[in-house]
Amino acid sequence: MDRLPGFRDFFPSPSPSQERWTMEARTHLFASWRRTMRAYAFREYDGSPLEHLDLYLKKSGEEILGQIYQLEDRSGRQIALRPEMTPTLARMILSGQRHYRKPIKWFSVPQLFRYERQQKGRLREHFQLNADLIGESGPAADAEVIALLIDTLRDLGLTARDFTIRLSSRQAWTEFFVEHHGRASDQYRFFQAVDKLDRVPEEVTAQQLEPVGIPVERIRRFIREAQPTPQLIAVQDNLAARGLTEYVQIDYGIVRGLAYYDGVVFEAFDRQGEFRAIAGGGRYDGLIGKLSGGKTELPALGFGMGDVVLLELLRARKLLPEPKTGVDAYCLIEEESRRPRCLELVQRLREAGIRTDYGLSSSNSNKQFRQARELEATYLITPQGDEPPTIQLKRLADRQVETVAWADCVSVLRNRLAS
Ligand code: HAM
Repeated sequence: MDRLPGFRDFFPSPSPSQERWTMEARTHLFASWRRTMRAYAFREYDGSPLEHLDLYLKKSGEEILGQIYQLEDRSGRQIALRPEMTPTLARMILSGQRHYRKPIKWFSVPQLFRYERQQKGRLREHFQLNADLIGESGPAADAEVIALLIDTLRDLGLTARDFTIRLSSRQAWTEFFVEHHGRASDQYRFFQAVDKLDRVPEEVTAQQLEPVGIPVERIRRFIREAQPTPQLIAVQDNLAARGLTEYVQIDYGIVRGLAYYDGVVFEAFDRQGEFRAIAGGGRYDGLIGKLSGGKTELPALGFGMGDVVLLELLRARKLLPEPKTGVDAYCLIEEESRRPRCLELVQRLREAGIRTDYGLSSSNSNKQFRQARELEATYLITPQGDEPPTIQLKRLADRQVETVAWADCVSVLRNRLAS
């Protein structure tokens, strides 16, 4: 039976030839994400993968609503597989924020589900790093989150030659909209049209903008002029103090598709323009208030970074490390009478963190030797002689052999592996 379209399996390397994703690449990515988050003092959280459908209605915007995996549970509740993390985070903040000192700096790596049209960089499930800072308004928090985004990508080996952050502002777009339309209503449709400006034919955009009464050319001019707002200038200055100027550029072509953003917005792209957005985020100061019916107002911003585009980019730039699939040691059992001694040794090596394997069933030495080769063992270890036995260590790469005392085996092997 085939797996569902748009879903992935993660095999250990080397994966079957038709498979593009490996568990090692995913683990490498997650470890790097967690390392950078820790350096910025962000704490990890997770939420429920299933939510009431209502959580997304009116919060996320039409585009994502059309992609929700929606179902009815056995009690007749309308529920959804989470398509994004931000509404879940807002819900968790509302129920638990009193326990935490502000600003709250949290991250998560949820698996998300969107019934999207399958295309390059877009699947129906993906893992998404979410980093959010809650309880602090102002450009210092914006800059902190953008610096975190930059350093998350740098930790993976990407440089200013590989990616850029396009910075924009929904405030600037709202002011533009009010100036040209006369009042602030139905802005979200306008944002959606601008968001898709370069992805749909000009006539379609013109048609979408007709009720708003703003010509496409006027929008293009606003994007070209790229006059930063005072908040964006403050963000740029903050990033300049960290030496991160070369990673950001003002680009009003970015408005973001989701409904709840209301301040600075940004997306990360590869410089060569080969891939879809690597990450996207922004300020959503009104979301928590809206979710609480106005009871709790908390400013917030953050970003989401998916694993799909990022792994494709890292693979294209040859920045994924060769997976180390081999074992450190293979214990050869020359005679079955030695098996208890071998098990004792294997246990000691494993307790010392040395990756060790051995044959589960009785077989001759040649067969075990072949198995050690197949497992890419660095050392073949063979207990030999009287009680207690001595241990023969054989480095398989050059067949260099040494004999060590039973009691010294673990420390000697650890030293050899480290050098
Ligand atoms: P988003 O722009 O919808 O934002 O998604 C963020 C990133 O997730 C995208 O830039 C992309 O890398 C990845 N992504 C999204 N959809 C897919 C897909 N179908 N397949 C593969 N990758 C995908 C959000 O979700 C916001 N909730 C992020 C956020 C957090 N804003 C504030 N905090």
